[in-house]
Amino acid sequence: MTDEPDFDALFAAAQPVQARAYAPYSRFKVGAALLADDGAVYSGCNVENASYPVGVCAEAGAISAMIAGGGRAIRALLVLGDGDTLVTPCGACRQRIREFAAPETPIAIAGPNGIRARFSLAELLPASFGPDNLRQ
Ligand code: THU
Repeated sequence: MTDEPDFDALFAAAQPVQARAYAPYSRFKVGAALLADDGAVYSGCNVENASYPVGVCAEAGAISAMIAGGGRAIRALLVLGDGDTLVTPCGACRQRIREFAAPETPIAIAGPNGIRARFSLAELLPASFGPDNLRQ
């Protein structure tokens, strides 16, 4: 995809879901929104759990929403978090994104006032293992 994705729309979609995040333990609310191959925007927030490792990241929620909604590929993704540092996807989520995105897929990292940085998936997860590795 060569067209510039509408990151403003992804930011607008991530804001309300970030506000609804369930993060009573970390108090760190995250929202994620992605543009899928079906043209729709899907979003998710982190959902924590009293059994801490069971908590789910915002990116995982957005991917679940995409699959349930009929999308099959990520064209662009935005992660929105608070604080002074970049809220980049965790290692596990980089692999989750890899399942549905190309190496050049843009990933924007936003704070409350807008986008702070932008990466390709390949920058966040170089030399990755993906679905193609299983096609032989
Ligand atoms: N978190 C996300 O949902 N996405 C990220 O990209 C970084 C971290 C969540 C997981 C946990 O609920 C909280 O932020 C603190 O790590």
